[in-house]
Amino acid sequence: MSNSNHAAPQLDLFSSEFKDKAYSFYARLREQEPVYRFTLPNGQVAWLLTRYEDAQAALKDNRFIKNPHTLLSQEQMNKMMVLPMLERDLLTNSMLNSDPPDHARLRSLVQKAFTPKMIEELRGRIQEIADTLLDKVQDKGKMNIINEFAFPLPIIVICEMLGISTEDRDQFREWSDAIIEASNLPEKMREALPKIQSFIKYMGHLIEERRKNPAEDLVSALIQAETEGEKLAENELYSMIFLLIVAGHETTVNLIGNGVFALLQHPDQLEKLKSNPELISSAIEEILRFYGPVELATSRWANEDVLLHEKLIRKGDMIVAALASANRDETQFEKPDLFDVTRKNNRHLAFGLGIHYCLGAPLARLESQIALLTLLRRMPNLHLNPETAPLKWRPTYLMRGLIELPVVF
Ligand code: HEM
Repeated sequence: MSNSNHAAPQLDLFSSEFKDKAYSFYARLREQEPVYRFTLPNGQVAWLLTRYEDAQAALKDNRFIKNPHTLLSQEQMNKMMVLPMLERDLLTNSMLNSDPPDHARLRSLVQKAFTPKMIEELRGRIQEIADTLLDKVQDKGKMNIINEFAFPLPIIVICEMLGISTEDRDQFREWSDAIIEASNLPEKMREALPKIQSFIKYMGHLIEERRKNPAEDLVSALIQAETEGEKLAENELYSMIFLLIVAGHETTVNLIGNGVFALLQHPDQLEKLKSNPELISSAIEEILRFYGPVELATSRWANEDVLLHEKLIRKGDMIVAALASANRDETQFEKPDLFDVTRKNNRHLAFGLGIHYCLGAPLARLESQIALLTLLRRMPNLHLNPETAPLKWRPTYLMRGLIELPVVF
């Protein structure tokens, strides 16, 4: 058994270049060092879990918790979190960073709005948004899929659900991107601080406005829960709105973008889907597995010592379940590096598992199904724009998504 006292290598999980070679790196780790100790740029040491069965078990294991405040000293928290105390308090008290019983209390406040049945009611509106966005570019014969289609579609939907003006969406994107790109990078987080503060100020105005003029939207419903007391504290209200905006901004855009990219890289699969649109459900699941938008699950901490593959994960250590690696695990998926829109029994981990399983999964699935089918129907002759420089993955830690995806049709 090895313990955790030796120096752990810095791992560059952030760059575009890493994302290019990530899958072969994970394959090596799955085989040789499935529980891999490394150091993040903020000095935090963590264990990377790359095998399907370990990632799956860890996501459901209550020995690994999300809120480390009982495990870490104030000094450790400050060093790791990077954000100043006030901003941290307002942004990080969400369900995603909570454990039972707080987790269930917070999740239950919004769960109803995200059930498959409620989401199905949005179908007509999502179709309308997809068509309006494509109307704008149809005659141009080219577009950047990310900026002109994949990004605005889910943002308009989540803004409408929350009751936020969609005109502010570019502003959100700038703030949200800055935060995601600074995740675990102290220097970048310091640079992003003014944007984070503007975001908080914006939420403050929004909350005040809705307190005065409640409407039929999620923000008003959450404020109602806050004023009834016991259910939601003010920092939790901010953190909830923040989580929903960021989740709505940073994920489905990449499912649509990565999906178009995977299909263009595999013309036989694209043809198959075009001639059999009923394959759309299995195609979306395959995109989630093959190029999942969330590369690594969010951080968890060991609440007690855990021995895994002869490695001692000590109480207080951080672990990261590599979803992208689990989804290419050869022991779980036949020919895992093959992109197959007809793949059956696709038990990918792209939406996580256990109590933190993605709240937005039904919404993300519906949005991406409508987006891809509408795009392929209206632009049947879709190609990568040959004048484009090689495509690059965004340099972010948690996510996998392209910076740009220029196409012609
Ligand atoms: C393709 C799109 C999406 C993907 C791949 C995705 C993926 C994930 C994953 C992997 C987790 C679990 C993280 C962990 O356990 O460490 C998660 C949680 C979550 N997601 Fe998503 N997500 C997507 C879209 C959305 C959307 C559109 C929303 C809502 C607007 C959303 C809201 C959430 C929330 C609130 C959580 C936290 C749930 C909890 O802690 O109980 N997601 N998502």
